[in-house]
This record gives sequence, C-alpha cells and structure tokens, in this order.
Amino acid sequence: MANRIPEEKVDQVRSAVNIADFIGQYVQLKKAGKNLFGLCPFHEERTPSFSVNEQKQIFHCFSCGRGGNVFSFIMDLENLSFPEAVVKVAEFGHVDLPTNYTAQAQPSTPKDQQQADLLKLYADSAKMYQHILVNTELGEPALAYLRERGLDDDTIATFGIGYAPKNQLLLDFFKEHGTDYQLLRQSGLFIENQAGELRDRFVDRVLFPIKDASGRVIAFSGRILTKSPDEPKYLNSPETKLFNKRNVLFNFDLARGAIRQRKAVVLFEGFMDVIAAYRAGLPNGVASMGTSLTNEQIYMLERVTDQLYICYDSDLPGQKATDRALKLLGDNSRLKLGVIQMPDGMDPDEYLRHAGQEKFVQVFEDGKQTPTAFEMTYLRHDLNLQNTQDQLTYLSAVLNQLVKLSSSVEQDLYLNQLVQEFGLDKDDLKQQLRSMIGQRSVHHTATRQAPPPAPAPLTPPPATVTGETGNRGPLSRVEKAERLLLFRLLHDHDVWLRVMAIAGFHFVHDPYQQILVYAEAYFKTHNQFDLANFTDFMADTSLQPVLTSLEFMDVASQSSKEEVADLVNVIMNQQPLVEQINGKKAELTAAKQIGNHDLVQQLTLALIELYRKQQQVQQADNL
Ligand code: UTP
Ligand code: MN
Repeated sequence: MANRIPEEKVDQVRSAVNIADFIGQYVQLKKAGKNLFGLCPFHEERTPSFSVNEQKQIFHCFSCGRGGNVFSFIMDLENLSFPEAVVKVAEFGHVDLPTNYTAQAQPSTPKDQQQADLLKLYADSAKMYQHILVNTELGEPALAYLRERGLDDDTIATFGIGYAPKNQLLLDFFKEHGTDYQLLRQSGLFIENQAGELRDRFVDRVLFPIKDASGRVIAFSGRILTKSPDEPKYLNSPETKLFNKRNVLFNFDLARGAIRQRKAVVLFEGFMDVIAAYRAGLPNGVASMGTSLTNEQIYMLERVTDQLYICYDSDLPGQKATDRALKLLGDNSRLKLGVIQMPDGMDPDEYLRHAGQEKFVQVFEDGKQTPTAFEMTYLRHDLNLQNTQDQLTYLSAVLNQLVKLSSSVEQDLYLNQLVQEFGLDKDDLKQQLRSMIGQRSVHHTATRQAPPPAPAPLTPPPATVTGETGNRGPLSRVEKAERLLLFRLLHDHDVWLRVMAIAGFHFVHDPYQQILVYAEAYFKTHNQFDLANFTDFMADTSLQPVLTSLEFMDVASQSSKEEVADLVNVIMNQQPLVEQINGKKAELTAAKQIGNHDLVQQLTLALIELYRKQQQVQQADNL
C-alpha cells in the first residue's frame, strides 16, 4: 500500500493519547477496580458493561464483545478506515501528521456509497448556502436579519449558518456539476412534482445545518425571515437515509466536550436558544428537533453526563413542556434533573438580548431549580390559592410529588415550605406523606415504565469464538485452555519458545490459530510484545475483540511449566479424538461397502469406545 502511515508514526499517535480520555469524549467512564466502566456506545444498555483498561490501553464490552485499542474504537464507532482513525486520534492528541496522510484520509470513506454521496451533497450544499449568506448580495437581507438577532461572524461560521435565497440556485448548481438525478431525489433537498421535476425545498430561509455526532451535515432547518401565517416558522429536511430526527440533537457535536467538562448538559427548546447560550459562553447546550426527547437522544446524553438542566421558554407553553420533559426523563433516564427558567416568560434568546450577557449567565448560576421546586410553582398555574378547594388540590398534588423523592431531607425541606405558606401542622403533613409512601411502594414497580428492549448488536459479538459472548454461557474446557495459553504465549516469550517447539501444535478454534499466525509474523519484526501495537499489526479487525477480551480475563500474573503443559495437553488431546472418530467412521463406511463383517464389527466397537471417551471429556468440560 502506498502512503501507508508508518508504524512509528502510529505508535507515536497512540502513545500521545490516553484511551480513557479519548473514549471519554463519547462515553462517561467511572472507575471500578482497576478498570473504567460505562454504557457501551455500540448498543443500548442500562447497566454498564463497557470497560476500558487504562494500563493496557484497550477497551472491551462484556455484553456485545466488541473490543480493541483506541483506533479500533473510533473505526467501529464512526465507520472509519484505519488511516482515518489514526488521523482522528492524532488530532485529539495534537500530534502533527505529514499532510500526505491527512489528505489521504480526508475523504471519509463510509462503507456505504450512497451514504457517502449524500454526505458529500449535504457538505457541498452547506458550503454553498453559507457562501451565499456571507459573501453575496443575495444574502444581505438574511445577514442583516442575523445581525439584528445578535449573531456575529464567528457565531455564523461556528454553526455553519447559511441562506437559501428566493431565486432557487441549488438545483442548477448540482445539475451543472452533473450530480446524479436519483441522488438529488433521495437527498431531501428538493421537492418533486408529479412530473418528477425537482425544485429547491428551502427558499428564502436562513439555514441551520443539522449535524450528526461527528459534525457532518445531515439535514437543514430553515427559518423564515419574516413571519407568515401560511408557512411554518421553521422548515426541517425530511427524513432521509442520513437523517432520522429521533437520533439527532442540535449542536451535540460541538457541545459534547463542554458537556463533559462542565459535567452537565442544558436542553433548550430552540436552535436560537442554543446559539444564544453559546454566544454567552455556555457551550454545553443542545436542542431536540422541535419534538420531545426520544429514548435515543436520552441515551446519547446519558453517555456523556449524568446531569441535565431543562431550559425551555418560561411562558406557560414552555412550562408545560418542562413539566412533560421532567416526567419523561424521570421515567426513562437516570439523569439527575434540574430546571432553569428565564424571568418574565422569555425564551433564553430573548432574555440574552434583553438583559445582556452578565444577567443571562447569572440565571444559569443562581436560577437552578430542583424538579420539585419547579413543580411546586408550576402546579399553581391554573389554581387560585385563596380558594380552599384549590388549596387542597394543590397540597395533594405537591405531596404526590414529594412521595417520589428518595431523600427525606429534601422532603422535609418542601414540607417546611408548605407548613409556612399554609400554616399547617407539620406532623399532619408527615403522617399524610407516610401513608402515601406506603401505598406507593405497593404500586411502584407496576407504574414505572419498562425500559425499551435493547436492540440486537450490529454485528455478532466476536469476543469468544464458539458463540458464547462475554459473560453469558460457560466456555468449553478446551476454549478456556486456548484462551489462557494464547495469553501466555503472547506475554511470556519463554512460553512462546517452548510451545512453538512442539511439532504440530495448533489451536482448535480458528480465531486463536489466526492470532497465533499473526503473532509469528509479529515476533519476526518486533522484539517485544506490545498489546496496542500488535492490535494494529493484526489488520483483521474481527480478531481484535478476541485479542482484547483475553486481557480482561482474571489470570494469575505468573505462569508455571505445569500450567502450560496442562493447557497444551487439553488442547492437543482434543484434536486426535475428533480426528480419530472421523477416521474410524470413514473406515467403517468402506468396510460396509466391501461387506467385511468382521471389520465392521471391530470398527463399530472402536467407535463406541471413542464416543465414550468423547463423552467423558465433555462431562469433564461441564464440571
Ligand atoms: P420556537 O417557536 O420556540 O422557536 O420553537 P425559537 O427558538 O424561539 O425561534 P425564534 O427565536 O423565533 O427564531 C422551538 C423549536 O421548535 C421547532 C424548532 O426546532 C424550533 O427551534 N419548530 C418551531 C419547528 O420545527 N417548526 C416551527 O414552525 C416552529
Ligand atoms: Mn426565540
């Protein structure tokens, strides 16, 4: 391969980056024993089975079996080639690579060609729309509009904002470039009439690019410049092969780092609110696509943080939406929740322009409410608390909230507030609460929404080679022996020399044998075994998880001669038995064909004996 990134360079990149930091951008990792654990980014799960070993610089999921080093991680996650993965990790570690490698890796090569073409189409469209906004006369009204709303050049560039002018340009632009008609049809960038003619979908709108988690444009949302009763304020791209709005959060790509750093995410209603927060120095904001949060979006957020603040509009519809979001998140996530509300019924973008940055930021610092505090205010919205009936309604609604709190200190705090405001007896309230808690514990398990079923992993789990994955199902005795011996062979060169001297030694299961063959080649050019380096050396990515899963075995640090001899025996004895049986079977068939009854009888007895031995071995396996 020409232009291959040399191994020293790859090593340099790998050693400049701690895998825990790199993966930490995508997965929230917590220390448990000598490993770090988190929710696996490759499948949906509720209890962490994804593990990172910092010392060995590898990862492994005990549930889906994926594993490898820092490069395999990002290759799997973003469907990158090896050079692309090296470039991406190098960027993270601020390692300069010669431009011939970065250039080579630039045109990202997703395995699916149509997807790649659509991504290119969106990238080109975004560039073209932004050019129109920033550099052309056509864009002037839109630029004036954005300036009026307080957006400067930097912000426009950061979010890649563009403008689709009145006179439709996009179709002609792509036609001139000879872009495939079917691709244009499928892109969602055009509207098709019954004759199959296309015209631009976005006309006279400011365009906000919607990006996936890696920052690639996959859709647009277009805002109308002047309100019109006949047209929606925001027009979104339709769902396409690239764009499924359930899986997308506006600004997640840019916010992810900040969310981790600040250990919290802020959820806004509108794109302009996210942008306002960014302008005010709060880059950890995201928004859903004008819909309530989906489970997919919740999973995305749970992986990077455990604290979420809802910052919706503070008018009544916004409060209703906040109430709904709190219930949704309370039922479907483990996130700790809080509420932030702008004063006077404003949305965050309005408040920033109205009150200025300092006051705006102040609200985020001082204005955090617990969900209960929010509810205690919100529940009043259609009640008149001068009226006794409404007071009772209110009290029972608040107690219903307090019942759900797990902290009795918090319960006490709010009870005190009720005592003060309504002049009630605290013991009475406590009594009431206790009886409600009693009832609740009976119904509790039934009322909580069951989590959605986890989807099947994308590819069959490769951690162990006989079908059993991770911690499910016991391994056969032979496979256990193979795994331990392979581990010893790689890490202890004395064991390597001893075992490789045994004539005809080979593993029973293919993947272990394949790794062994790679290792033979590896030791010809490398004096020492280096796990992360060897992972890259084995170009076969399906073997990497098998290799790394070995490292997560619980094994004694030292091997002994006896141990190795035992392992070899278990593995080698397995071989002849199967082969002997097959051999005897073939002989038996032949004996039957020639009608040699004595031989048939003799062979049958021998076969029975072999089957008996095999059964013994299998029984021993199951012990
Ligand atoms: P808002 O109407 O609160 O928008 O809708 P906003 O952020 O305050 O917008 P500006 O400040 O007037 O520009 C919130 C979100 O709901 C979705 C969009 O995602 C918007 O950001 N929405 C709204 C639509 O999808 N379509 C619409 O017609 C309106
Ligand atoms: Mn607004």
